[in-house]
Amino acid sequence: MSTRIVIEAKNLSKEYTRGKEVVIAVNDVDMQIPKGKMVMVTGPSGSGKSTLLNILSGLDKASEGKVLYEDENIADWDEEKLAAFRRGNVGFIFQNWELIPIMTALENIESPMYPLKIKGREMRTRAVSLLKQVGLWDKADNYPDELSGGEQQRVGIARALVGKPRIIFADEPTGNLDEDNAASIMRLLKSFTKRDTSILVVTHNEELKRYADQTHKMSSGRFV
Ligand SMILES: Nc1ncnc2c1ncn2[C@@H]1O[C@H](COP(=O)(O)OP(=O)(O)OP(=O)(O)O)[C@@H](O)[C@H]1O
Ligand SMILES: [Mg+2]
Repeated sequence: MSTRIVIEAKNLSKEYTRGKEVVIAVNDVDMQIPKGKMVMVTGPSGSGKSTLLNILSGLDKASEGKVLYEDENIADWDEEKLAAFRRGNVGFIFQNWELIPIMTALENIESPMYPLKIKGREMRTRAVSLLKQVGLWDKADNYPDELSGGEQQRVGIARALVGKPRIIFADEPTGNLDEDNAASIMRLLKSFTKRDTSILVVTHNEELKRYADQTHKMSSGRFV
């Protein structure tokens, strides 16, 4: 039985030039993210994980190679099409959370739904349910600067999941969490594969490999 591939990278490379110095952050990477699977890329700090994730999600552009989303080359899309793709299909969990400071925890979680045609009550129901699932119901009305790092991370995770995305890009999703919270977040993420969501997790934490359906190890920009 063949598995459907949602995202495919072919010969992907990314170079950064700073003055005379060239850093090859991603070096000739091939990978596939199948439907309903969790794919994990592990590797040490600086190995190129975030760069790879940003290119696969269309946030950044490759220097060479291509990213196919259901066989379409995303480099052929204009900004508008890319933005619509992200809004409608993708959930992002950022390494540094990127919460909106003037919104409460609950509002941050609801925020990706604002541009979508979802009724207010439905938005609230979904946001409340996720806030409970990440164990933060008592912090619903706190602003980001009134939350700990791990709590902000959990709000960021709930926000990524609220739109029922088809693809989740997660950069170091448990970076600021203790073991118990990390396990519950990974189980929550994993549960989304059952609704056919595809998930890419990049992390330096080798312990998380047990949750993945496929793993790749990255070192100096390459898969090893
Ligand atoms: N905008 C940039 N300009 C120049 N070099 C960059 C830029 N962004 C990243 N790099 C370099 O590319 C390499 C890969 O960085 P990247 O952020 O992808 O690593 P990472 O594996 O995510 O690390 P970490 O685990 O610390 O988050 C590093 O050597 C980094 O210094
Ligand atoms: Mg990173």
